[in-house]
Amino acid sequence: MSELIAKPEVHQAKWSGFYKKTLHERQTQLKLVFPRVFTSSEPSSSVVSSVYVTPNTSPSNNDKKSFPINGLDENIADNMIENCVGTIGLPVGLALNFIINGKPIIIPMAIEEPSVIAGVSGAAKTVSAYNGFKATAPVTNIIVAQVCLLDISQENMNSAIDKISRSKSEIIKRANNYCDNMVKRGGGVLDINVRRIPRKANRNRKHFTLSSANFREWLVVHITIDVCNAMGANCASTVAEGVAPFLAELSGGRIGLRIVSNLNVERMSKASFRIPLPMLAYKSLSGKEVAARIIEAYEWAEVDPYRATTHNKGIMNGIDAVAIATGQDWRAIEAAVHAWACDGVRIDLDNSHNSRSDNSYRPLTTYWIEKDEQLAATGKSDDECLMFCGELELPIMVGTVGGVLKTNKVYEYNLGIMGNPNSRDLAMSMACIGLAQNFAALRALATEGIQRGHMSLHAKNVAIAAGCPPHAVTSVAQRMIEKGKITLSSANDLVEAHMSEQVQCVYM
Ligand code: HMG
Repeated sequence: MSELIAKPEVHQAKWSGFYKKTLHERQTQLKLVFPRVFTSSEPSSSVVSSVYVTPNTSPSNNDKKSFPINGLDENIADNMIENCVGTIGLPVGLALNFIINGKPIIIPMAIEEPSVIAGVSGAAKTVSAYNGFKATAPVTNIIVAQVCLLDISQENMNSAIDKISRSKSEIIKRANNYCDNMVKRGGGVLDINVRRIPRKANRNRKHFTLSSANFREWLVVHITIDVCNAMGANCASTVAEGVAPFLAELSGGRIGLRIVSNLNVERMSKASFRIPLPMLAYKSLSGKEVAARIIEAYEWAEVDPYRATTHNKGIMNGIDAVAIATGQDWRAIEAAVHAWACDGVRIDLDNSHNSRSDNSYRPLTTYWIEKDEQLAATGKSDDECLMFCGELELPIMVGTVGGVLKTNKVYEYNLGIMGNPNSRDLAMSMACIGLAQNFAALRALATEGIQRGHMSLHAKNVAIAAGCPPHAVTSVAQRMIEKGKITLSSANDLVEAHMSEQVQCVYM
């Protein structure tokens, strides 16, 4: 963890202009800054011990010394999924300038989209010039498994619920048998809750009536499990399947689905920042103007789901990229986040699972301006005491042990660069990345527009798509930026011109 405890200003200066270096220079800097992550005389036992790997596929000691360009060994890939025919590469980059809860941290991101890493690093530079990000997440790493019990008639519903509630400790005891390793680590099943959910009227069943169609409610048992530092989905599903027969016996119901729930409001992570208005000045605009424009952009997203979807997509640009770089189930994170963005789900939970509201889809971030009372007390003018505040709260289920983490050593390096966080720290970093990405996008959109920053960084991809040879990509991209025309046809013309120049050189 010592890499995390460098002084914030020293740490940031060390990385300034990192993007202007070559890839190999960056790799060298990485090894110098994180010697313990990249120097080891031991073979990578973690990869050898993976359930997916045969012993002779273990990497040599040298593999441990540089960030790999090709991350996944073919033998591992072949054992990871079915019908494997190869692997696909994604660039891994570093999000810089982050200070979270007072500590500097470098956050690896895997993403194909340009300007996301530049955006979060630029936003973090602004935020960290004051106090950086604050983040919180629950100390206990909870997951919820669901067991659906069917065919319980309306007159038996109350007694079924009563029997389950009265047998709570016995259910917990039995359920813990299905996660005994988690219990040994200090986790395990914590609670059992019963929900009753009204069934919807039968639809699309003209030709086939289900035997259960006459029952009016779903009886769903929630099993709350502390999964320590794991993501916990497999553990939850094992517990749900294991304990379901006992639940069926108690309730007199038939066993339905038994599976983890990916919507987990017990794992809410929050990121926030607060900076004096003048520090928000950007390009030719004052801090006050930038703040007003960002708040306007946020307020539009609040009432327009078409805009909110794009707004939230920007947040997930950041979060997904960290999830992919660190071996997380990003589909689970995506599903939970968008469910949370639906107002209906929040109201559903607040009202103890009663009926939903209008289901409107909301932006996940919030921005506002507030007065710093301490500054005001020092006699500063009103304008000098105004703070621009941003906040993002969302459910993030991640794990830093188990899952696929030992199948790909890139995950190991990336978590190492982050100081080997526990699941809570990882979730907090992801929330900060999401907030930074949204702040970067809104700041660009509301001031100079997205195209200068994004498209100029995208220009290299356009050149590659036009078949530009690798040695000419930078110059073709630069010429497109200078012409102000970053399009495939412009790239095609420039690549063609480059090729004919080359041919002429050969014949001269
Ligand atoms: P800038 O203010 O012109 O940058 O922003 P700067 O030159 O002042 O540099 C400030 C810092 O930014 C640098 O610090 C770097 O950390 C970083 P330094 O190293 O100099 O001390 N930075 C870079 N890092 C890596 N590579 C680079 C680079 N340039 C600056 N090339 C910037 C330039 C691109 C950051 C800015 O224009 C920006 O943030 N744009 C927004 C980018 C963005 O949001 N992209 C996401 C893709 S668009 C999308 O899909 C989402 C969207 O639809 C969401 C929505 O609608 O809400 C937009």
